[in-house]
Amino acid sequence: MHAVDEVDVRVPARPPHRRDAGRPAAVPGVRGTVLRSEISLRLDDHDRAPLPARKSPDEPAAQQIPGDDGGVAAIEGQGVRTVGRHVILGRMMPDTRSVLVTGGAGFIGSHLADAFLAGGKTVVILDDLSTGQRSRLPKGARFVEGDIRRFDLEGLLNDANVDTILHYAAQIDVRKSVEDPVFDAEVNVLGTIRIAQAALAAGVTQIVFASSGGAIYGDPEGFAADENHPTNPVSPYGVAKLAGEKYLFGLAHGTSLVVTALRFANVYGPRQDGRGEAGVIGIWMKKLLEGGECLINGGGDQSRDFVFVGDVVRANLGAAARRKAGVINVGTGVETSVNRLYDLVAAACGTSRPARRGPAKSGEQMRSVLDVTKSRTALGLTALVPLPDGLSRTAAWFRQTASPT
Ligand SMILES: NC(=O)c1ccc[n+]([C@@H]2O[C@H](COP(=O)([O-])OP(=O)(O)OC[C@H]3O[C@@H](n4cnc5c(N)ncnc54)[C@H](O)[C@@H]3O)[C@@H](O)[C@H]2O)c1
Repeated sequence: MHAVDEVDVRVPARPPHRRDAGRPAAVPGVRGTVLRSEISLRLDDHDRAPLPARKSPDEPAAQQIPGDDGGVAAIEGQGVRTVGRHVILGRMMPDTRSVLVTGGAGFIGSHLADAFLAGGKTVVILDDLSTGQRSRLPKGARFVEGDIRRFDLEGLLNDANVDTILHYAAQIDVRKSVEDPVFDAEVNVLGTIRIAQAALAAGVTQIVFASSGGAIYGDPEGFAADENHPTNPVSPYGVAKLAGEKYLFGLAHGTSLVVTALRFANVYGPRQDGRGEAGVIGIWMKKLLEGGECLINGGGDQSRDFVFVGDVVRANLGAAARRKAGVINVGTGVETSVNRLYDLVAAACGTSRPARRGPAKSGEQMRSVLDVTKSRTALGLTALVPLPDGLSRTAAWFRQTASPT
């Protein structure tokens, strides 16, 4: 049983915020450089532009930056208004004032920034661009380049009058977390602690945290894993995500800061690259659209739960509107084998080229699928984008970004 679930925090047990407390202490022992994730296709890196000069490394550099295409518009159908390239569920738009999206130059974070902007919210993005891309930054957002491990977070939160933080900045590479668990923990654990400290000091009312259902449950005991499944992460990345959740809940305990941890399955969609927990889709699509050959390790019977990024956006809107502490799985509940995924990806790319077969990867988890009952009831997350549709939209984006026009 998870320690924090469905806690109604409307009546704080102790004074909610420590706005008048001293600034949170700097996290000791962090290093001066931010390493890049090693596997990065960086498909739209050509859009990078040099940064404008700043007076000091910690000073916010506000910029208005033109966005790329690839807005998911994934929640159309029930959409009640269109703003530019995005269609959103107006009824889901949370009652927030100003939102900080950490990691907003990343795959998922940039879609979140789009959605909140489209809902008329003020959006600030904090990202160190270690894996994020300038071309993903939406027009209308205030972009601040900085590292969550050392940036003056409280100053930024106060300056921007932020009431909600969507904490998506992270080191997301599982392999890198094995090679360099200290770096992984510095970003994913200590960085998250700093976010919580600053949020409390600045009077932020809510944090939505990007956790991982794929990484923290470990080898599943029966199927599918619901939120009460034992947490036995097998990678430092999974350990750090779980620790991040625990620190957020622990630090918010007894305050009116509401923490919701969304435990995502494998997220895919436009703007993804070859990293992340559904990175294989990006790798395969790029290869197939360039006429290359893909590799499947092992028999291809390994299974995962693939959720479209537009549905992840809906989950965030729902969580931010709901304002209840707890953990919620966000996936489809549908188990898809690697072989089936390959067939669907190939079809989305308009090819029937077979994949090459390679040896199985030792230690690879064979099956993973989330029980998403709670996301249906708590977040209203039904009518999810079917995998073939989501893959078609993702392939369309890859085609578009590959074309020179
Ligand atoms: N993609 C998935 O399938 C998936 C699944 C489960 C959970 N998540 C979580 O969702 C979040 C977003 O994932 P994504 O796939 O969009 O990854 P991403 O790498 O595209 O986005 C992460 C962003 O964080 C930024 N960042 C990294 N370290 C930073 C630091 N120290 N300070 C400031 N910014 C920093 C990067 O530049 C990048 O823009 C992550 O927390 C990840 O763990 C993703």
